[in-house]
Amino acid sequence: MPRRHRRLGLRSRVTAAFALGALVLSVSLSTLTYFTARQYFLHERQTAVLRQAYVNANLVRAALRSPQPDIPPLLASLDTAPGSRSVLYDRGRWFATSLTVGRDALPAHLRGQVTGGTPASQRFNLAGSLQMGVGIPIPVVGAAYFEVFSLQELDHSLRILALTLAAGSVAITIAGVFIGRWASGRALRPLGDVAHAAVAIAGGRLDTRLETFDEADLATLASSFNRMADRLQERIESPLTTLSTAIGVLEARRDDLPQRSRRALDLLAAELRRFQRMVSDLLEISRFDTGSAELSLDDVRVDELVQHAVHAGENGALPVELAPDVAGLQVAVDKRRIERVVANLVDNAAVYAGGVTRLAVEASDDRVRLIVEDAGPGVPAEGRERIFERFFRGSAAGRRGAGDGTGLGLALVAEHVRLHGGRVWVDDRPGGGSRFVAEAASV
Ligand SMILES: Nc1ncnc2c1ncn2[C@@H]1O[C@H](COP(=O)(O)OP(=O)(O)OP(=O)(O)O)[C@@H](O)[C@H]1O
Ligand SMILES: [Mg+2]
Repeated sequence: MPRRHRRLGLRSRVTAAFALGALVLSVSLSTLTYFTARQYFLHERQTAVLRQAYVNANLVRAALRSPQPDIPPLLASLDTAPGSRSVLYDRGRWFATSLTVGRDALPAHLRGQVTGGTPASQRFNLAGSLQMGVGIPIPVVGAAYFEVFSLQELDHSLRILALTLAAGSVAITIAGVFIGRWASGRALRPLGDVAHAAVAIAGGRLDTRLETFDEADLATLASSFNRMADRLQERIESPLTTLSTAIGVLEARRDDLPQRSRRALDLLAAELRRFQRMVSDLLEISRFDTGSAELSLDDVRVDELVQHAVHAGENGALPVELAPDVAGLQVAVDKRRIERVVANLVDNAAVYAGGVTRLAVEASDDRVRLIVEDAGPGVPAEGRERIFERFFRGSAAGRRGAGDGTGLGLALVAEHVRLHGGRVWVDDRPGGGSRFVAEAASV
């Protein structure tokens, strides 16, 4: 049982509770309404018939006291409710206005009681239809007067009432489901916001904050959450910010420093830049892990995008070779991510292979390919998959002068390209060196 409960979402549970509440409430209300109405109508009917029966019994008594009473016409002349039939017992003889409702139709108990001198009424079934019988003794002449009336119509009305109430209960329960879903959705929305914000922060977007909620209880939640995020951001960012501010101050007075301190300062500054890049790479890659990496697409011209990325890099301008059908080609891409891809590939070529020998963009069959070639040592066949793994540095690991990377560059390249629905690989460049290709659909 408890396992099942855990599997049901909170929202479904709240909805189920609403539906159940609506069901219980509407069924009890309907039941109460039905029985009260039934009681009332039966009583009403019975009183009316009883009153009429007393009047008729009086008339019968007066007639029976006359010397020569002619009973059948007397009974026929009585004023009765529509559908009501009279039965008379007169000193051992039975008379009736209807062929079907005579002595034998009356329940024995009712008969016995009334002929024994007590007025009585009883509900009973006659040939499948509900009847009410009332009986009034007329002791002075040793007679008893009965009236039998059908409750069939009342029964029918009550049945319609019951059906209406049942349909109402069903409708109220269904409304309960909808209200429950709506209300739980409203109530749980802040929880969803908090979950989203937490995922964003875990994915490295440290500046994510919750908007304040209107409800007082939730306002505390939002402000505590935001305070926690502030602290977290401070703890992660402030040492780096403090350090880089301090180094900035020192760099401004670089010329006043002695030679040895200058070299130490340069080392420190380079190390800090490397560290800052590593932190931002780690934050970036954790966004992929938490699934919070989102494409922010822009329509851009391929040639301008690549040229811009190359110019913005640290390795100076490079000629970009564009295939004829690429000039002016528009694609929808995340500019920032594609610029990172170009920069990382160009950077690696500079660090590990003496620089880029060819940077080209080709297009064919609705695909666009970015090609970065170098004339360096190339990537050995067994390392061609692994260099796209995180922290893999191959032969560069531990080697002096082989860059000071962390091995995240190509892993990020692969993730950025994959997010665009494409893939990246490396093979041999004809004539030595390596060729990196990033390919994605152009539509
Ligand atoms: N053009 C290249 N020629 C030869 N080897 C390369 C080339 N580009 C990358 N590699 C190898 O692949 C490894 C992984 O590259 P990647 O860019 O992922 O990490 P990195 O450059 O070492 O560190 P980071 O880019 O995170 O600073 C490199 O360490 C290097 O050994
Ligand atoms: Mg790299």
